[in-house]
Amino acid sequence: MNQMTPPPKVEIIPPSAPFSEAQRSWLNGFFAGLLSTDGPAPLSAEQGATVLQGPTGDGDDGEAPWHDQTMPIADRMKLAEGRSLRRRMMAAMAQQDCGQCGYNCNDYSDAIASKAEPRLNLCVPGGKETARMLRALNEELEKAPPAGAAVAPAAAVSAPAVEPGRSRDNPLPATFVSRRLLNGSGSEKETWHIEFDLSGCGLDYVVGDSFGIFARNDVGHVDQIIALLGASHTTEVRGKTLREVLISDVSLAPAPDTLFELISFITGGAQREKARALAQGEDPDGDAATLDVMAALQKFSGVRPHPEAFVEALEPLQPRLYSISSSHNATPGKLSLTVDCVRYVVGKRRRLGLASTFLAERINPGDQVKVYVQKAHGFALPQDPKTPIIMIGPGTGIAPFRAFLFDRRASGAPGKNWLFFGHQRSSCDFFYADELNAMKTSGLLTRMSLAWSRDGDKKFYVQDRMREVGRELWTWLAEGANIYVCGDAKRMAKDVERALVDIVAQFGARSTDEAVGFVAELKKKGRFQQDVY
Ligand SMILES: Cc1cc2nc3c(=O)[nH]c(=O)nc-3n(C[C@H](O)[C@H](O)[C@H](O)COP(=O)(O)OP(=O)(O)OC[C@H]3O[C@@H](n4cnc5c(N)ncnc54)[C@H](O)[C@@H]3O)c2cc1C
Ligand SMILES: NC(=O)c1ccc[n+]([C@@H]2O[C@H](COP(=O)([O-])OP(=O)(O)OC[C@H]3O[C@@H](n4cnc5c(N)ncnc54)[C@H](OP(=O)(O)O)[C@@H]3O)[C@@H](O)[C@H]2O)c1
Repeated sequence: MNQMTPPPKVEIIPPSAPFSEAQRSWLNGFFAGLLSTDGPAPLSAEQGATVLQGPTGDGDDGEAPWHDQTMPIADRMKLAEGRSLRRRMMAAMAQQDCGQCGYNCNDYSDAIASKAEPRLNLCVPGGKETARMLRALNEELEKAPPAGAAVAPAAAVSAPAVEPGRSRDNPLPATFVSRRLLNGSGSEKETWHIEFDLSGCGLDYVVGDSFGIFARNDVGHVDQIIALLGASHTTEVRGKTLREVLISDVSLAPAPDTLFELISFITGGAQREKARALAQGEDPDGDAATLDVMAALQKFSGVRPHPEAFVEALEPLQPRLYSISSSHNATPGKLSLTVDCVRYVVGKRRRLGLASTFLAERINPGDQVKVYVQKAHGFALPQDPKTPIIMIGPGTGIAPFRAFLFDRRASGAPGKNWLFFGHQRSSCDFFYADELNAMKTSGLLTRMSLAWSRDGDKKFYVQDRMREVGRELWTWLAEGANIYVCGDAKRMAKDVERALVDIVAQFGARSTDEAVGFVAELKKKGRFQQDVY
């Protein structure tokens, strides 16, 4: 066995300094991390803040009853009333712990409250609602006397520097290799198997991790916006052409409040009132939710902001995350994704999801894309390769489970594997059917349970299939299986959890309350893990 020499203990904070032992030890670690280039990483913002304050340094009990991704923001804020600013900031987040902001919901709010993170617009699923609420709370923070901000000093909770390619703040170029449509003809879906080559950038990953993609806006869309501005695409902005900035640097999706503010400054009368109302989150014409940047310019059609002011009023382009559907152990240097393409129509205009359509149609084999690997927190294969696993992943939710299966095959893990997959139609939406059927034949996939929602007269979902085989599912759980869910956060994940509770109650001979407690305990022990979005 490889015996590691323990690192020398670093004493930077003198014992006489007014800190507890835990605080002193954390600060020593933090400064040691700053001073050394290869030492252990300092603690996360949350760990640091917790040690500095003690877990309830601001009188908070640490509970987050609003931590439910299906709860509207108004209800979340109500539950957080009377709490400290950092906790109310946490309630303002979308509660998905999806990692798109580069943190989880709790760490992101602590980082803002400690002033280590100035960006208030990173919560992608929370969108404008979360950004608005954070701005309001941040104003409170700015006004609060320094003693009132019961969070660690900004310097002490700064995010540690990360290796290139391991964070949204430090992406690397990877090579796009290919795309393949996973749906057959007759499907209402457009889902792509996307492949990247990581050998050039040297990135690796473990199954369960996600891949961050910096996409670029559609050129045709950008040119239409430039025409609405009455500008030339070669106008120089931020040292680049206006066209380049609009393609690569700013979001053209929901029109931000700052754009309406800008419009209100450069117009008058009823237009000005309307723009001002929109900037304040009101909806004077009932169309606020549909206003992307282009629709906003069309709504205020006579208004032509200067390109520089216009770009300044837009939000930076955010990366998108995708669950990795390959295993680095099985195919080193290769990475694949399973991407559902977002396209929809509002009025007469076709709207394009930024990253999904970028992957589906705007890159060519050999192109370089800025990417990073987002480490999974609490979504991984069990450490013991003998542990059975139950995977529930309808639609694109199959992605990490394809990766799990390839990984278990590559490592020769003897644990049993049970997959629940479902989608609209068996004839055209059975992703990876050949691979999965071959895994079933070879015995790697011990069981495969399928649910097709649109094959019959009535909807039939993965949780309906789970209920049908509840007795066996309970037996697997009783044998110590881990259970995983991936895919839609808003409806599917909740419904699957409800089915699981019912199965535990029925076949585990428990009351509903006991079954709820059992499932909560599975989560606490890391035996019930979710990757939902
Ligand atoms: C950890 C994680 C893993 C993920 N894994 C996957 C994965 O494996 N596969 C996958 O496909 N996705 C996955 N996603 C989702 C993915 O990150 C993107 O959110 C998704 O691809 C859409 O991004 P986009 O840029 O194409 O669309 P965007 O430009 O972000 O547009 C999406 C937005 O468009 C709007 N919209 C969408 N449809 C409609 C409609 N019909 N009517 C009106 N408005 C609409 C909604 O506001 C929606 O939020 C994952 C997300 C997370 C956080
Ligand atoms: N941020 C985004 O814009 C974005 C982009 C892509 C995906 N997503 C989210 O990710 C999800 C995954 O999309 P996807 O393409 O993988 O597939 P999906 O649309 O979730 O559909 C997969 C299967 O799940 C079924 N389903 C619908 N409601 C369900 C429920 N309550 N419980 C269980 N199954 C249910 C669907 O059936 P029916 O359709 O027949 O009802 C379909 O058979 C989407 O639903 C969406 O919420 C979001």
